[in-house]
Amino acid sequence: MINKVRKAVFPAAGLGTRFLPATKASPKEMLPIVDKPLIQYAVEEAERCHIKEFIMITGKSKRAIEDHFDYAWELEENLKSKGKDAMLEEVRRLSQHQFAYIRQGAPLGLGHAILCARPFVKDEPFAVILSDDIIDPDDDLLEEMIHIYNKYEATVLALERVPKEEIHRYGVIGGTEIKNNIFEITDMVEKPKPSAAPSDIAIIGRYILTPDIFEFLAKTQPGKGGEIQLTDALKALLKKKPVYGYLFQGKRYDAGDKIGYLRATVEFALRNPGVKDQFREYLLSTFSSIMSNKES
Ligand code: G1P
Repeated sequence: MINKVRKAVFPAAGLGTRFLPATKASPKEMLPIVDKPLIQYAVEEAERCHIKEFIMITGKSKRAIEDHFDYAWELEENLKSKGKDAMLEEVRRLSQHQFAYIRQGAPLGLGHAILCARPFVKDEPFAVILSDDIIDPDDDLLEEMIHIYNKYEATVLALERVPKEEIHRYGVIGGTEIKNNIFEITDMVEKPKPSAAPSDIAIIGRYILTPDIFEFLAKTQPGKGGEIQLTDALKALLKKKPVYGYLFQGKRYDAGDKIGYLRATVEFALRNPGVKDQFREYLLSTFSSIMSNKES
């Protein structure tokens, strides 16, 4: 596949208030799921799609993200001297890509964060990956979206059906299914009340955007929550150009929420070769003691 999408933007300037106090002085994106921070899952997903340039939008208290993807001379020497080759390789691999860091300055919203990437994205299509949404590494959501982009050369959003009580947390679309799981989008509302939602189909944290979004973002006024919303700019774009959506059927973990984060931790631990057997035993014994307490 010729990959027309070579760049990915990772908005990572949010305050992470849902995880305070853990996120008071360190980035939410560095919270680990088993042994990898959230942002690394996002970067690895882009790597699997042959993305070559990684653009991070950061802010205050986010320096650990830069260090994480940087060359770590002392650590590497230490691992080398101890013969820990696999770990050395893992640590080294992360620093081999081209990373750019842009500070958002003020938390003015997702739309504003994307606009900050303009000088680095220039005139190419690009992916946007929100690291709060972890996509199961066995699913190929982003790759599918890139295929759709390659075919239509237009904006592609990742979509998922969500229960009514969660609709207020998402951008919600209206549209028509033109092919299996591919939608042509006709409407979009950021975080609507269930009664005002055009459907039960939400935008999830993966986008393939075209560079013309920047003109729309530059004109977008603060919307929901007083922030510059990507959804509002996409809605304006929609009036001029087609926007497509891909309805994801695989597994997503909303790690921006405590329960979603815990679910991801448990399920990833159950697959991690280093801990899965012991962890499974622990879960089974915890489960039986919960059940016996319930019965007594
Ligand atoms: C953002 C977008 C929203 C989208 C969501 C997906 O909201 O504004 O349209 O549905 O990401 O995760 P946030 O979660 O940043 O509030």
